[in-house]
Amino acid sequence: MDLNEPDNIIGGKSFTAVAVNSASKAGEWIKSKLGSVTQLSTKYSMHDLVTEVDKGSERMIRNLIATHFPEHSFLGEEGVEPGPEASVKALQDMSDAEYLWIVDPVDGTTNYVHGFPFFSVSIALAHRGEVIVGVVYDPMRDELFVAERGKGAYVHGRKMQVAKEASLCQSLIATGFPADHLVALPANLKEIQAIAPKVRNLRVAGSAALHLAYVAAGRLSGFWEHNLSSWDIAAGSLLIQEAGGTISDLSGEAYHLGVRNVTATNGLIHNDLLADLHAAHSAH
Ligand code: IPD
Ligand code: CA
Ligand code: CA
Repeated sequence: MDLNEPDNIIGGKSFTAVAVNSASKAGEWIKSKLGSVTQLSTKYSMHDLVTEVDKGSERMIRNLIATHFPEHSFLGEEGVEPGPEASVKALQDMSDAEYLWIVDPVDGTTNYVHGFPFFSVSIALAHRGEVIVGVVYDPMRDELFVAERGKGAYVHGRKMQVAKEASLCQSLIATGFPADHLVALPANLKEIQAIAPKVRNLRVAGSAALHLAYVAAGRLSGFWEHNLSSWDIAAGSLLIQEAGGTISDLSGEAYHLGVRNVTATNGLIHNDLLADLHAAHSAH
């Protein structure tokens, strides 16, 4: 690294500029392919879809990043074997990386396949395990959510701030239905039953990364989901933190790259949401 250059720049190009450029290029490309998927297959289960567009988007992002930062490490969903164990191991295998790009090339593939226009590209850069850049791009609305550690989170160039609701009864909350139908889905359904009557309303729109971006933008007051992978959460985690929100494990443990059961809120409702999610499992 050239020590005369600022921290986030190597070889003249800033990390954030490369993340933004890669997310926008990949996003435009996946949008151009909407409705013309030719290779649809399932991965881990019937709920886990992949297409040639997921693979092509990841290839494009990987190549763009490697052009600028060939020495950086890369963790992309499509380069990892399907299933939660392989996701956990792939992240562990990268634990020594100095700079690690964590990429979900299409978050919301089920929506994408059905033409439901809520999906995103999610790109994070972690430095020694801490996310320092996070970008989530929604190509359908041309919305780019960007955060740099210590410098705030922005959408359309405007600084984002989490919502101000201080109680669950005023809050719009999102969740996601887990692909694991044996343990995680029943747990999620119990939680939904407990939370739905207490909040203004619930949404389940099908892109974890975009849900996190919406919490950062104040459009949702909170979000929780079980069994996500690092690439679903990493970029969104920094959006949340830089927009003044709180992100943790469902048990309340502070966010780190290995967190899979996530709760992200405006901070004001965090403890109430965690407590009610927890209580859902002790209720009769
Ligand atoms: C999925 C989406 C979805 C969430 C799933 C994720 P993918 O990611 O984020 O909203 O409910 O748990 O796996 O497979 O479309 O990249
Ligand atoms: Ca995903
Ligand atoms: Ca994906």
